[in-house]
Amino acid sequence: IGILVGPRGRGSNMAALARACAEGRLDADVKRVVAASAEAPALGVAREMGLPTAVVAPGEHYTEELLGAFAGCDVLCLAGFLRLIPDAVLHSFPKGVLNIHPSLLPKFGGKGMYGLRVHKAVLEAGELESGCTVHLVTSEYDEGPVVLQKRCPVEPGDTPETLAARVLKLEHQAFPEAVAMVLRGR
Ligand code: GRF
Repeated sequence: IGILVGPRGRGSNMAALARACAEGRLDADVKRVVAASAEAPALGVAREMGLPTAVVAPGEHYTEELLGAFAGCDVLCLAGFLRLIPDAVLHSFPKGVLNIHPSLLPKFGGKGMYGLRVHKAVLEAGELESGCTVHLVTSEYDEGPVVLQKRCPVEPGDTPETLAARVLKLEHQAFPEAVAMVLRGR
């Protein structure tokens, strides 16, 4: 599997995927972790875990460079990556491209819906539950068939931060499970 992280990504989902591979819960290897910036905190985490890393910044040869960095990968995982993926990249992974989002899509998704904004919107809407979604990536933000969702309650007194922490725990379980499902052809 290949993993693409965002320029400010912490890399906790990347680390959860790598741990699942190392512990045999996910029958896969992380071939490469790619960030859009050398400053991405996730790259340091990846290197500490002994994972191969690369920096591919959007530019003239973005598509070719991404394809080169992930050559041989069956599935690409977007872990905190906030941009749309070029079509040629979307279609080059035999098992597809997966994204994780910290809400129960189709609710609270779309361009600009990331980080604490998602959880703030969930609280403002008075939702009684939230959760996370792993879905196949298309050329639209947060669209595409859902592979797996995990749910948790919204608790009285929740802040965006407390809800984000509850959902993040679910994300770390959901992403490896969803990748395993997709690799098994489900
Ligand atoms: C996660 O909340 C994920 O759902 C969203 O971006 C965040 C990335 O966090 N797409 P991390 O870098 O994996 O800790």
